[in-house]
Amino acid sequence: MPHDLLNSGSFLLKTTPQTKHPSKEELDELLLASKAVLSMTDFQSCARKIFDSCCRVTGATSGYVALLDDAGEENEVLFLESGGRSCTVDPELPMVIRGLRALAYSSGASVYDNNFNNSEWMQHMPQGHVQLDNVLFAPLNIDQQTVGIIGIANKDGNFSERDAKLSTTFGEFAAIALKNSQYLEGMKQSFEKQLSLEKQLQHATKMQAMGVLSASIAHEFNNPLAGITNIIHGIKNRAVYDEEDAELIDMAIRECARLKDLIGSLHDFNRPSSGTFAQMDVHSTIRGLLVLCNHLFNTKKLSVTTHFQPGLPHVHAVADQIKQVLLNLLNNAVDACSFYGTIIIKTGTTDGHVFIDITDDGKGMDAETVQRIFDPFFTTRAEVKGIGLGLSVSYGIIRRHQGKIVVESEPQKGSTFRILLPRRRTNETQKEDTGGR
Ligand SMILES: Nc1ncnc2c1ncn2[C@@H]1O[C@H](COP(=O)(O)OP(=O)(O)O)[C@@H](O)[C@H]1O
Ligand SMILES: [Mg+2]
Repeated sequence: MPHDLLNSGSFLLKTTPQTKHPSKEELDELLLASKAVLSMTDFQSCARKIFDSCCRVTGATSGYVALLDDAGEENEVLFLESGGRSCTVDPELPMVIRGLRALAYSSGASVYDNNFNNSEWMQHMPQGHVQLDNVLFAPLNIDQQTVGIIGIANKDGNFSERDAKLSTTFGEFAAIALKNSQYLEGMKQSFEKQLSLEKQLQHATKMQAMGVLSASIAHEFNNPLAGITNIIHGIKNRAVYDEEDAELIDMAIRECARLKDLIGSLHDFNRPSSGTFAQMDVHSTIRGLLVLCNHLFNTKKLSVTTHFQPGLPHVHAVADQIKQVLLNLLNNAVDACSFYGTIIIKTGTTDGHVFIDITDDGKGMDAETVQRIFDPFFTTRAEVKGIGLGLSVSYGIIRRHQGKIVVESEPQKGSTFRILLPRRRTNETQKEDTGGR
């Protein structure tokens, strides 16, 4: 034991064997703590039960349970119990590991001090801290590392070796609970990851099937449609008809044109990679597109701003296809906005990717809608305006670029669509994509 500790009146738990048998009250509290560990649903409430047992059995009236932060320098307090005494310390203040607590952490054993007010540790106490007559710290040890602490204080009388020994046991219970909760959290995360991978796979399979189907529909519809369009044009040029019929014929021609666009989109949906991959300057691509879209923004008097990251790296992409995706996203954003709404286009880099965010302050989407937006033909727009292919086509394009589209949205607040494009694509796919298509 360090010399100054002896002088300060602190005690490190001695490892001498217990002679006295546990009392019924002590056994009851130990049983309660073990039940808390076995029936744990979350660590915090389990730790509270163990702490309460520890206080009852030792006679402590205040204290806390804390875990060591990732840097190993501070306590992260799970809860504090002032035992009815005043405490005005800001709970957000960092709780650096020092003083008597540091000894509990470094030794991995319980320590206590029955004359705390006169001890050298008082100098570390922040202003307004609950008054401490006596204190006892019991470590939470996992695999020989102290990862947290049960701090108890203000016993009416002195803490004893027996209290320290009992608190050590409660600390062990808390450590088992913590280890279990970390294990459960790990299991939960890997389960969720697995689930999300399965979902992605299902989605990709669905998209692939839709791609094949849409390509064959497009193929089958293309020729008859061209025929019908020619016939209607022929009738328009040669037949004699009144004004009302002329309007009907024009309407039929417009509908044929719409069908042609739809068939074009169906083709896009299955197009593996029509263009050539080349170095693409994201900013000039966006600038060019914004010029084209000006009239679109003006229809609703929207304010469109860009936040471009200076020196953004180029990406290896098919510029036309990325333009198509951005156009789809901008079209959707315009559609979602009310008059005088705002669209922000932001670029940047993250994790080896270049991102482009398109944020609107439009009507937003609920979680159920977000789940479905990449499904082909899913649309909430009026029948004539939307066919529900924009996002599924975009999804396919970005996937072929080995990128991702991520969506965040809140009803009545707006949406952000983030396109992530890898700064470098893997060689294999480059070969496949540029292989003469
Ligand atoms: N920025 C957005 N804000 C709100 N809803 C959106 C936004 N973008 C897409 N959506 C929703 O996703 C649906 C599908 O979009 P999309 O595939 O482009 O098809 P379409 O635009 O033809 O409806 C839209 O109908 C709309 O419900
Ligand atoms: Mg759309």
